[in-house]
Amino acid sequence: MSLDDKIAATLLILQQATQDFRNVCFANSLGAEDMVLTDLIAQHQLDISLFSLDTGRLPAETYDLIQTLRSRYSLTLQVYFPDHVLVEDYVAQNGVNGFYDSVEQRKGCCAVRKVEPLKRALAGKGAWITGMRRDQAVTRGSLAVSAWDVEHDLQKFNPLLDWTNADVWQYLKQNDVPYNKLHDQFYPSIGCAPCTRAISVGEDIRAGRWWWENPENRECGLHVASRILVQA
Ligand code: ADX
Ligand code: SF4
Repeated sequence: MSLDDKIAATLLILQQATQDFRNVCFANSLGAEDMVLTDLIAQHQLDISLFSLDTGRLPAETYDLIQTLRSRYSLTLQVYFPDHVLVEDYVAQNGVNGFYDSVEQRKGCCAVRKVEPLKRALAGKGAWITGMRRDQAVTRGSLAVSAWDVEHDLQKFNPLLDWTNADVWQYLKQNDVPYNKLHDQFYPSIGCAPCTRAISVGEDIRAGRWWWENPENRECGLHVASRILVQA
């Protein structure tokens, strides 16, 4: 399938989502895939709201891009922060960087800084959209383009599922879309600063995420339920 065909198919999914569901939102991490979706939503003036989860530990380059997005597009990006009481409790129990000590402590930090804010972001929404692609990780091979999210009780769309990394970059370059400067420093996948590092030649594109853990653990809890979803 050519890139133009993939763009047309993605647009169709997004447009259909806004027709079939009320209050459609897009979870925007400001990663390369998410900038493709941001640009498509802006260019085609789709009725989709945008939100981002600011964990409080994002790299400076991601904050720069949040600011750039604000000036480049006439879109509103709603930013959700973690509950400060939960963060304070986590830090008191585990330490500020306690996530390095065990998978449980890492998932505990993601639960407080990402999963709880996500629940608030999705409250009252009819469907949500992500920028996940099938070939990004072993954990994403069985995703569907559209599926019922049992965890959050709403429809979930992954409209870039069949895009390759090359497709994403061709789109970004062709449309002069702003992107996270860390991508130019061998960071293909970007999350929180302490849990993301650059990859080496030949390494998997998510090898820099939670690099000290086994690949099958490397999901933050935002998409846990996706693996047990049924096709819509
Ligand atoms: S994840 O493990 O951090 O979820 P990844 O960075 O590959 O993985 O993100 C996958 C998708 O999850 C993104 O395309 C986006 O839809 C959503 N997502 C991840 N992090 C955030 C965030 N901080 N804010 C909003 N959405 C996010
Ligand atoms: Fe905490 Fe790291 Fe998860 Fe960010 S990615 S919420 S810093 S454990």
